[in-house]
Order: sequence, then structure tokens, then C-alpha cells
Amino acid sequence: MEPMLRVVKWSGVCVALVLLVGCQKPKPNPEAPIEPPCPDGASELCASKVVRRERIEQLVERGKKATDQLLVTLKRQLVAAIKSRGTIGAIEFCSTNALTLTRTVQTAWSEPIALKRTSLRVRNPKNAPDAFERTVLRWFIEQKKARGKLPSHYLQLVTGAKAPRVRYYRPLVVQAICLSCHGPRSSMPDALRKRIAALYPADRAFDYKLNDFRGLVRVELSLGEAERR
Ligand code: HEC
Repeated sequence: MEPMLRVVKWSGVCVALVLLVGCQKPKPNPEAPIEPPCPDGASELCASKVVRRERIEQLVERGKKATDQLLVTLKRQLVAAIKSRGTIGAIEFCSTNALTLTRTVQTAWSEPIALKRTSLRVRNPKNAPDAFERTVLRWFIEQKKARGKLPSHYLQLVTGAKAPRVRYYRPLVVQAICLSCHGPRSSMPDALRKRIAALYPADRAFDYKLNDFRGLVRVELSLGEAERR
């Protein structure tokens, strides 16, 4: 073959190859829906592919609203109880009313929800964490260690006998007002220490310091048609 012809032939092959490879590049399909990025604290939900990603922010909003309502109610009642009955009186008040108040907020809500406070060190054994909650409690502790601060929330898919549900969790931090009942035992007045021990013989919710991670408040939300994939 003439050298000139050979050059023409090989460059033809090269052009054909480039075209072929070029054609195999996946073209973006304008019809395919673009997945929004996975919101913070929802990696488990995104991976599960049970919940529509574009609905996750709305679940966060619903969770925040319901847990806000519980926390505001409990705090208001706690402050009023301490003011009118003193710390020991407020302990009695918490022990008889905290769970009833939780149920009241729950039943007054516009949709069926399940509210709970829990911790790895509980005072009331009725607040002990289940396996799902224990995983999330540990997750918050690890995140605090890794990032130096607590994430604002976590979303978890709960499956089992019932239809899938989503739990929204938010962390509780020890504030100054909490210390009189959850602070160091050594700094509690004798009468208070004795009253707590009498009501809660298995109490582990003491010796906390200001800004410690105390536990979680969580709400379980049911998933409507609109949220499910
Ligand atoms: C007057 C005493 C008192 C104060 C102040 C107080 N608590 Fe408690 N706390 C209790 C008692 C009693 C219980 C157990 C009864 C219950 O609430 O279910 C409890 C339970 C809890 C629980 C549920 C888990 C468990 O240990 O049983 C959490 C979470 C909690 N407290 C957080 C806080 C935080 C956060 C503050 C400050 C904003 C606070 N508490 C202030 C007395 C107190």
C-alpha cells in the first residue's frame, strides 16, 4: 500500500473508533427524575428506598413540631412545679405526671404519633430504650465525638409487624435547670437524694454535667401514600 493511502486508512479507523466510543457514553435522559441530595441525618432512610427523598424534609418538619410540643409542655410544667413545690415536690410531680403529659400531647396531636423520652442511663425504667433507640443513642454519642457537636436530628425507618414507620429523634442536652435532679449525687441535699432513691431504686440518671448529652426525645410517624415510594 502507498504510504499516503496507509495514513488515510488508519486515520479512518481512528475516527471510527472515536465515534464508536463517543456514542457509547451514556447520555443524560431528560425524562429521568433527578434525585435530590440526601438530607442530613437521613442516610438510613435514603438507603432504604422506602421513603420518597423529596418528602424527607417534610417528615423532619412534622417530627420537629411534635417533639417541640412535648418539650415545651414538659419544661413549662417542670418550671411551675419547682416554683410552687420546690425540687423534692417537683420530683414527685415528674414521677406521677411526665408520662401522663406525654400521652396527653400524643393524643391531642392531629395525626397518630408515639412520643417518648429515653436515654442510655434512665431514671424511670419505663423510659428504657428499645433496640432501635439504643442504636440511635450510640450514633449521637459517636457523632458528638467525631464532629465535636451533636447533630440536630436523626431519622430512622422502623419495620416489623406493623406497616413501616419513621422515627424522628432529637438530642436532649443538660441545662442548668436539669442539674438539681440529674447532676452529681454528692451535691444533692440528703432529703432529695433519699426521695429519688425511694422512687427509683435503679436510678442511673445522675452525675451529669452541664451540656452533657442526656438522651433523646423521639416521635414515631406513620407513612402516608405520599411519602412512600
Ligand atoms: C425536679 C427534678 C427534675 C428536673 C429539674 C429534671 N428532671 Fe429529668 N427526670 C426527673 C424524674 C423524676 C424523671 C423520671 C420520671 C419521668 O420523667 O419519666 C426524669 C426523667 C427524665 C428523662 C427520661 C429518661 C429517664 O431517665 O427516665 C429525661 C430524658 C430527662 N429527665 C431529662 C431532663 C432534662 C434534659 C432536664 C432539664 C431540662 C431535666 N430532666 C430536669 C426529674 C427531673
